[in-house]
Amino acid sequence: MALLFLWDSGRSGQFMNASDIAALKKQALGEAQAAGTADALEQVRIKYLGRKGLLPGIMTGLKDADPAERPAMGRLANELKQELAARLAARRGELQAGSAGDGAGAFDPTLPGRWRGLGARHPISRVIEETIRIFDTLGFSVADGPDIETEYHNFDALNTPDDHPSRDTQDTFWLEAGRLLRTQTSPVQIRVMESQPPPVRIIAPGRCYRRDTTDATHSANFHQIEGLYVDRRVSLADLKGDITYFAQRLMGADVKVRFRPHFFPFTEPSVEYDFSCHVCGGKGCRVCKQSGWIEISGAGMVNPKVFRKVGYDPDAVTGYAFGMGVERIAMIRYGIQDIRLLYDNDRRFLESLSL
Ligand code: PHE
Repeated sequence: MALLFLWDSGRSGQFMNASDIAALKKQALGEAQAAGTADALEQVRIKYLGRKGLLPGIMTGLKDADPAERPAMGRLANELKQELAARLAARRGELQAGSAGDGAGAFDPTLPGRWRGLGARHPISRVIEETIRIFDTLGFSVADGPDIETEYHNFDALNTPDDHPSRDTQDTFWLEAGRLLRTQTSPVQIRVMESQPPPVRIIAPGRCYRRDTTDATHSANFHQIEGLYVDRRVSLADLKGDITYFAQRLMGADVKVRFRPHFFPFTEPSVEYDFSCHVCGGKGCRVCKQSGWIEISGAGMVNPKVFRKVGYDPDAVTGYAFGMGVERIAMIRYGIQDIRLLYDNDRRFLESLSL
């Protein structure tokens, strides 16, 4: 400030030396760069280069400077003048580009940000991921198989007779050359056992397809999670224990699991299993059709005929298998009354789920 006072006062630069000029140059260039408008820039120019500005003052004062220093100071003052003029011109160009509206310099940091919304996992993905995590604690790994299956893997190897109604064109989407869209994830059992010796402990989530007419509880495209556990002395008690453990981990400790006798060609004995209705706690409501139970899917002990198809020795190993309907689980877990809501991708619905 003392420096400026001297120059501002218009007195001769008698106390001025080379480093004063260097400091002044730094200050001038800084002010030019900081000018945010053409007006502010003009003020900087006037302050330093104007007729009564600081630089002419310095030039005038040179004559009083120490003769030994005078040439160096003159050179510095000239540099200051040239560099400042160049910086002013450059800054003027920048400010013009900014106001030209081409977007380049028109960034306004004071505008509020645009909220794009945070995505979230779809309930079907959540159920699949949680199921994988829970069965991982029981030592199961994840297996995979194709959506387009062979008749052999989807039916024959699973001991499904030729005249079984599920093979009907009214139930199954047949493709060319004996291929079909898999009606269940059970063919993954076959593919896994064909590819490795026992023991096996896998779950296989995936899409399935059936010629169902879509309504509140049916969709032609849905998801299952297949489970397969093969080892020495695996029993129905293991199946019941593991499914119940899974249900309690997923739905909460108070969920009940019910096993009912059933038939599947690839398991013997076979069961269907239900979870107590999450919505009414088992008392009966619209979601469970007043029964208090929600059917999840089928399960059973792997039929020895299936073991023989894949080259396993049914006298050496036993196993259990289950399928789970992912949509069913998602519906009771999140209290969804219509399966179609799961495929509409209406964000208002998806965001409304208590997650
Ligand atoms: N695949 C059967 C179905 O879709 C379910 C199931 C899987 C049954 C494994 C028994 C064993 O209905």
